[in-house]
Amino acid sequence: MCGIVGAIGATDCTPFLLQGLRTLEYRGYDSAGLAVLDNGLQRARAKGRVAELEARVAEQQLQGQVGIAHTRWATHGVPAEHNAHPHVSAGLAVVHNGIIENYEALREKLQALGYAFTSDTDTETIAHLIHACLNGELDGEAPSADLFSAVQCAVAYLQGAYALAVISEDETDTLIVARQGSPLMLGVAEDGHYAASDASALLSVTKRMMYLENGDVARLTRDAIYLKDVSGQPVERDIVTSSLSANAVELGEFSHYMQKEIFEQPQALGNTLEMISGAGKLEPGIFGAEAAEVFQQVDSVLIIACGTSSYAGMTARYWVEQVAGLPCNVEIASEYRYRVSVANPRQLVVVISQSGETADTFAALEHAKAQGHTHTLAICNVPESAIVRETALRFITRAGPEIGVASTKAFTTQLSALFLLTLLLAKAHQRLDEADEKAYLDELRHLPVAVKNVLALEPSIKAWSRHFANKHHALFLGRGRHYPIALEGALKLKEISYIHAEAYPAGELKHGPLALVDAEMPVVVVAPNDELLEKLKANMQEVSARGGQLYVFADGGSQVTSSEGVNVLQMPEHYGLLSPVLHVVALQLLSYHVALVKGTDVDKPRNLAKSVTVE
Ligand code: G6P
Repeated sequence: MCGIVGAIGATDCTPFLLQGLRTLEYRGYDSAGLAVLDNGLQRARAKGRVAELEARVAEQQLQGQVGIAHTRWATHGVPAEHNAHPHVSAGLAVVHNGIIENYEALREKLQALGYAFTSDTDTETIAHLIHACLNGELDGEAPSADLFSAVQCAVAYLQGAYALAVISEDETDTLIVARQGSPLMLGVAEDGHYAASDASALLSVTKRMMYLENGDVARLTRDAIYLKDVSGQPVERDIVTSSLSANAVELGEFSHYMQKEIFEQPQALGNTLEMISGAGKLEPGIFGAEAAEVFQQVDSVLIIACGTSSYAGMTARYWVEQVAGLPCNVEIASEYRYRVSVANPRQLVVVISQSGETADTFAALEHAKAQGHTHTLAICNVPESAIVRETALRFITRAGPEIGVASTKAFTTQLSALFLLTLLLAKAHQRLDEADEKAYLDELRHLPVAVKNVLALEPSIKAWSRHFANKHHALFLGRGRHYPIALEGALKLKEISYIHAEAYPAGELKHGPLALVDAEMPVVVVAPNDELLEKLKANMQEVSARGGQLYVFADGGSQVTSSEGVNVLQMPEHYGLLSPVLHVVALQLLSYHVALVKGTDVDKPRNLAKSVTVE
C-alpha cells in the first residue's frame, strides 16, 4: 500500500526520493508525490505511476537537500492529483501511511478554525493540525516551539495508525518523522539521514537502519537523530545492519518479479530449510527458546492469516491433524478479529504473514491475546516486522524480498515452515517415530530439487495459457490437502489476469458449480496420485459429460489420459504429504503465462497492494 521516503543531506535528494518510490512501487499505489525545500516549499504530484511524477519533477526542476515523497493507495478519496501526498498547510508538508480514524471530527474542528481543505483525505487534517499546533490555535495550547514539538502536539490528537514524515520551509535543516502502528525506519548514512516505510527503499544509500517504535517522534538533521518515545522521554534506538542486499530487489535477467520469484523457489526453500540440511532430527528451538515446552503443552492449533497466507494455513490444517493428531482450525484474520469466539489457553495461535504488516492479521493476533490466548507463534518473511515482535515464538522464512503482488515464493516457504511445525508438534505429542522423522526430513531436503522439476514443465504450461486468455471464468478443483492449492491457483489467476476464477472441493461440484460448466468453462484439476484420485476421476467425468474443458495436473503414475476435452499435464512422481508444494508451483506458472498473453500488469495488478496495512 502507501509508501514513504524522506531524506536530509548535503546534496540534492530528489534522485534518492524518486529511486525510493520506484522501489516501493511493488506495494501497490495509484498516485505519487514529492516535496523539497529549496527557496521555500516546492511540491510535485501526479496521478498514476512514479514515471509521471518523475517527468513533473524534471519539468518543475525540483531539487533540494531536504525532501519527502510518497506513493498513495487510495482509501479516503479517489486516486487523483488533489488527493496525492504530500499535503500542505502553509509552508509545511506531510506524507502519511495508515488511516486516521477520527479524521472527520478533526476536519470539522480545523474548519471551524478557518482551515480550508483541498483534498478528501484523512492526511490533510494532519498537515493543518501541525500548523494549528505551531500557531497555538488548539484547545488553549501554547504555540509549539518548533516543528518537532508541533508534530508531538498533533499526534496526540490522532486516533488510528500512522507513519509520518514532515518538512517545513521555516526549518530548513529538519525532517520530522513519527510512527504509530504503521512501519517506519531510518537510514543512517555518512552523507545524511533517510527515512522509509520499507527497508528496501533505503538500500541504495545504506544498510544501517534504525527501526522506530510505536509512539516515537524523531528529528533528523544532516548529522544527528534526536528521538522521543511515546511518553515524551528522550530515547535511543539501536542501529542494525540490514541483511537485505540491493540486488535482491532487482529484476536481473527476468521480465517480471513474479517470474523471478517463481523461479527463485528452489533457492528460497533451500535457504528456509538450511537449518535442517545436515540434521538427523528436528529440534523445537528453531521456533524459539520456549518452543519445546509450549509444543508439549498445547492441545490444538488455531491458524490466522489473510489471502495467500491463509491458504498456507488451510493446507497445514490437513498436515497438523493427520500427522500431529491435534485439532486445527484456520481463521481469516479480518473475520476472526471481530468474531465472538471461545479462547482455549492451551491452543497454539499461529499467525502467518509474508510481510508481517497486514493490519487485519496484526489486529487478530492482538484480539487472540486479549481473549486469553497465551501461546502465540508467527511465521513470517520479515524478521523486524510488527507481527514478529508481538509473538512469543517465531519462524522466519528465508524467501528473500517478495516484490510481485501475487505471492509465490513466500507461500511455498510458508508451507515448508508449517510442515516443520507439524513434525515438531507430532514429536512433542509422541506421534512421530525416528524412522518417519528421518523420512520426512529427507523429503523436505529434496524439495528444492522436486520444485525444479516442476519448473521444467514451463513450456507445456505456457502452451495451455493461450486456451485461458480469452475466457471470462475458470473453475479450479481439488480434494483434501490439494483443495487449498486449488483455492490458491484460482486466486493467482484472478489477481493477475482478472479472469474470474473459483475453487471448489471437487466433491462439491454437484452442489452448484456444475451448473456453470459448458464448453466455454476451463476446469483446472489438481490431480495428485493420492488416496482421493479415484474420487477425483469421477468428478472429472461429471465435467466431461457436460462438455467442460479439463486441464488436469496429474502426477506421474496417475493414469489420467488426454482425450477430446481432457488436457493432461504430467507432473513429476507423487510427493506424498508435501505434494501441495509442487502442485502450486505449476498453478503459479499457469496464471503467470495467462497474464502475459492477456498483457496485464503482472507485478502490479490493478487495485491490489502487496502489504495491506489498513483494514
Ligand atoms: C495481500 C497480498 C497477498 C498476501 C496478503 C496477505 O493481499 O497481495 O499476496 O497474501 O496480502 O499478506 P501477508 O503479508 O500477511 O502474507
